[in-house]
Amino acid sequence: MRAVDVVMKKRQGEILSDKEIGFIIKGYVDGSIPEYQVSALLMAIYFKGMTAGETASLTRFMLDSGDRMNLSGIPGPFVDKHSTGGVGDKISLPLAPIVAACGAKVPMMSGRALGHTGGTLDKLESIPGYSTVLDIGSFREGIKAEGFAMTGQTARVVPADKLLYALRDVTATVESIPLITASILSKKVAEGADALVFDVKAGPGAFMKTPQDALLLAESLVGTGTAMGKRIVAVITDMSEPLGRAVGNFFEIEETLDCLEGRGPEDVVYLTYRLGAWMLVLSGLAEDLEDGEKRCAQAVASGKAMDLFLANVRRQGGDVERMLALRGRYRSEHRAYLRAPASGYIVGLDAWKIGMAGVHLGVGRNTTADSVAPDVGFIFKKKRGDKVRKGDEVAEVFGSGLQGLAKALDLAAQALSVGPEPPAPSPLVLREILAS
Ligand code: URA
Repeated sequence: MRAVDVVMKKRQGEILSDKEIGFIIKGYVDGSIPEYQVSALLMAIYFKGMTAGETASLTRFMLDSGDRMNLSGIPGPFVDKHSTGGVGDKISLPLAPIVAACGAKVPMMSGRALGHTGGTLDKLESIPGYSTVLDIGSFREGIKAEGFAMTGQTARVVPADKLLYALRDVTATVESIPLITASILSKKVAEGADALVFDVKAGPGAFMKTPQDALLLAESLVGTGTAMGKRIVAVITDMSEPLGRAVGNFFEIEETLDCLEGRGPEDVVYLTYRLGAWMLVLSGLAEDLEDGEKRCAQAVASGKAMDLFLANVRRQGGDVERMLALRGRYRSEHRAYLRAPASGYIVGLDAWKIGMAGVHLGVGRNTTADSVAPDVGFIFKKKRGDKVRKGDEVAEVFGSGLQGLAKALDLAAQALSVGPEPPAPSPLVLREILAS
């Protein structure tokens, strides 16, 4: 078999066989097929697409390029959630202990902030002492004891994705539904979960800017994941404004504690319980969504979810007492205020601009080599739909340095729009996609 023939076949819009896809992925990982031929194939896939069968085959070969998490000997059910990335999206943090408190096991492997989107690992590492680098033994121990553990992906999890993602990044082929599907699914299936809930974000602060594109990705994830024998639901959710009131690494830990104490912001609580309910339904631990949401609320009201979260923080090296003592006080000395430019109603708080402002503050990073800070970000006092008077504080803003703070304030001011009338209410959950 020759790589050039496979490229030509896809360029002509034909369907690649399992053998051809396997030949390319194995050859790329072992170095026998050069980057320029894989680049050409990626571009052909970008333009010609892939069938559900080809996407499942690509996902399988990518998965087989590395290790899978061995969860044998631990009683399930195993379930996880994946978000395609947003601003202020800390849902994984309260969700994992809540779902664990309801009896499921959550083997959670997360990522870091990049560009305008935040990262669960950076948020966890803002807790003094907390380690997100777990060996398999510690990961298993955490899942056995608390029902969940939080770690980063090791180099051995889907190495093909690390290579392909870097190549897609420099060949303008990131935005391809089959390539995104295989990238996300291969990593999630490697974790060992039997059921997966995808939170596919749509809007300016999301990877998929329109609900139509989000729907294509959601359907592709559900179709391909189901073909791989997993129970899958994709929930399309709005990401036109940041989630919750906190955008910032430790600030979002504080909001997580608020949620686990039953006093989190309405949007965060609603989405956490909705995604949690789906996880419980898919795991056979709830009869339906209503029952699932009730169980999530009970896990919080009983204090069980909070106990599990604190036990996880301790297990992963975090200093619980210091975390609790820092609550409301872990703030950079460089502070400013985002103020309403006019009287009226907030009609927009562009999540992408707030996310990019967060990069200037030190919440997120432009490149994987950049470092982030724990004590910076936004605390919003007002959000979309709220009434404001000119000069009112919309957010407290904290930055690592004065220069970054000024740039962030400038961008945040552009993100904020105030109009004379309240905006039409818009739902947070746009659609829910189940296997057909
Ligand atoms: N996230 C991933 O993990 N992979 C993609 O291709 C896009 C987003």
